[in-house]
Amino acid sequence: MARLRIPEEGRTIEDPAAIGAFLAERGIDFERWSPGGTADAVRSDATAEAILAAYGGKIDELKARGGYVTADVIDVKPDTPGLDGMLARFNSEHWHDEDEVRFIVEGRGLFHIHPPQGPVFAIEVEAGDLIRVPRGTHHWFDLCADRRIRAIRLFQDPSGWTPHYTQSGVDRGFQPLCFGPTYFPPLEARS
Ligand SMILES: [Fe+2]
Repeated sequence: MARLRIPEEGRTIEDPAAIGAFLAERGIDFERWSPGGTADAVRSDATAEAILAAYGGKIDELKARGGYVTADVIDVKPDTPGLDGMLARFNSEHWHDEDEVRFIVEGRGLFHIHPPQGPVFAIEVEAGDLIRVPRGTHHWFDLCADRRIRAIRLFQDPSGWTPHYTQSGVDRGFQPLCFGPTYFPPLEARS
């Protein structure tokens, strides 16, 4: 399940409906999906084709709603060649000319969102979570300590997905803290 944190307010939201409502107020879509096909289609050794087929109905629905034309599966593991370089493209504040739509099949990741009004918040997404960050939204992305994510991506135009960096430095004020299985609370919070 996703978790949402607003560091500046020391507040965490864990209830999926409350997370959805918080994000909706800020123009970000958030949903929980379950596969339409067989459970086998989403086993960790499932092929990209099998994953796309399992979620085909939902993907078609999203395409119609958001004008997305293509879908693919990104598959990142700790030993993925060039992983650090790949992550470094997205872990400082940026925006895109098109929506960033991700449905997490396996693993997890952490989006920080910097809305025009209000504090920066972090949303940790994991298997079953769909998030749509609208074009133009300032954000950055980190993997969690397990460095594992497999996600369906949808594109309006893949060439529109180049990041534009704000170079604001805002991202440097936030730790990429995940709550997943590898999360350890800061020392002062342990008892
Ligand atoms: Fe991005």
